[in-house]
Amino acid sequence: MPGDKSISHRALIFAALASGTSRVTGILDSHDVRSTASVLRALGVDVPSLGPAMTLSGVGLTGLGAPAGDLDCGNSGTTTRLMAGVAAARPFTSRFVGDESLSKRPMRRIIRPLEAMGARVHCERGDGLPMVVYGAPLRSVDWQSEVASAQVKSAILLAGLVAGVPVSVTEPLLSRDHTERMLAARGVTVRRHEGTVSLEPTTALAAADVDVPADPSSAAFFAALAAIADGGDLLLTDVCVNPTRTGFLQLLRRMGARVEILEETVRGGEPVATLRVTAGALVGVDIGGYEVPSMIDELPLAACLAARAEGTTRITGAGELRVKESDRIATVVANLRALGVDAEELPDGMVVQGNRAPLRGAVTTHGDHRIAMAFGVLGATEGAAVEIDDRACTDVSFPGFWDLLARAVAP
Ligand code: S3P
Repeated sequence: MPGDKSISHRALIFAALASGTSRVTGILDSHDVRSTASVLRALGVDVPSLGPAMTLSGVGLTGLGAPAGDLDCGNSGTTTRLMAGVAAARPFTSRFVGDESLSKRPMRRIIRPLEAMGARVHCERGDGLPMVVYGAPLRSVDWQSEVASAQVKSAILLAGLVAGVPVSVTEPLLSRDHTERMLAARGVTVRRHEGTVSLEPTTALAAADVDVPADPSSAAFFAALAAIADGGDLLLTDVCVNPTRTGFLQLLRRMGARVEILEETVRGGEPVATLRVTAGALVGVDIGGYEVPSMIDELPLAACLAARAEGTTRITGAGELRVKESDRIATVVANLRALGVDAEELPDGMVVQGNRAPLRGAVTTHGDHRIAMAFGVLGATEGAAVEIDDRACTDVSFPGFWDLLARAVAP
């Protein structure tokens, strides 16, 4: 499975901000991570082309320079929100731009805390991109986030890190914690107390090597494929099993698949393991509450699996899906219906009725990589005939997805 996207973005950003040289192995070479690399280059960091083993020289916490042109974040929300936090703490102006999907995504959630810290941010249209960040000397903040979002949390932690001021962020439910783990591994004091993460100021970030584990959100497509297959099993190696990311594996078990976690070790502060997934008779379940952030990117796939399970699956507490690369509630429900599945939108989720009829029809991805892959998994099941309008969009997070899928189902 390809390298973890969240850790890959952060590996580049932290290597750039470090004092010294960092080696990064196993980075995900996808469109989104390339966006982070090119934004860092525009700010004066010498980032080599992405490859299996890279060496980066950091410029230090105060070494980024003013960009000569726009910072193009492509389709990547993580690039935009994390780098806006960094840019807010530097004494220059940066203009963030992105593709059509990214330009519709809400930025107010990071603008409010960054402005509370003393930066000024101007959106040219509504609360999305293009967005101009006027960096300033920032002050400390103790921020209550309305959403469980690792991107919001990380924007604030990075702003505090680069500005050299203490910050704390409270989120309603725990979101992925890679930023906290990677900062701690680089000598920064980060504490978590209940729902609050606090960062102590520092004057330098230590360089550290990263061996990027496989992405559990990418592995999820193959785990799901194994879970609904007629037989056989799949072994997925070196997968990050950080507890803030494993909600989908628990869900597979709850639905009736067999998931074994083998050879678990800790690498670079992240738990990593081999997964063995075996099919089972799947049943519909309720999904909601605290487990939602731990499988936020896997929920479209969960809804697709639910279409092949016996009974009803109800997803709630997942309103965040409406502001991802597409409105994933509307997109998933419309596409399931297009394949003959009984599905219905809720304001903050959806209800899916499982059935055994062959799945046939056309899927409209809206350029959303996870929609293409989730329905690609359904399309690989026995008797299915699923046409997907944009297969290339999977390059955002999982180059080579379609070839691997074909290999996994080959007799
Ligand atoms: C990410 C956080 C999540 C996730 C995204 C990657 C990250 O978004 O959906 O794919 O790397 O921090 P939110 O934090 O906005 O929920």
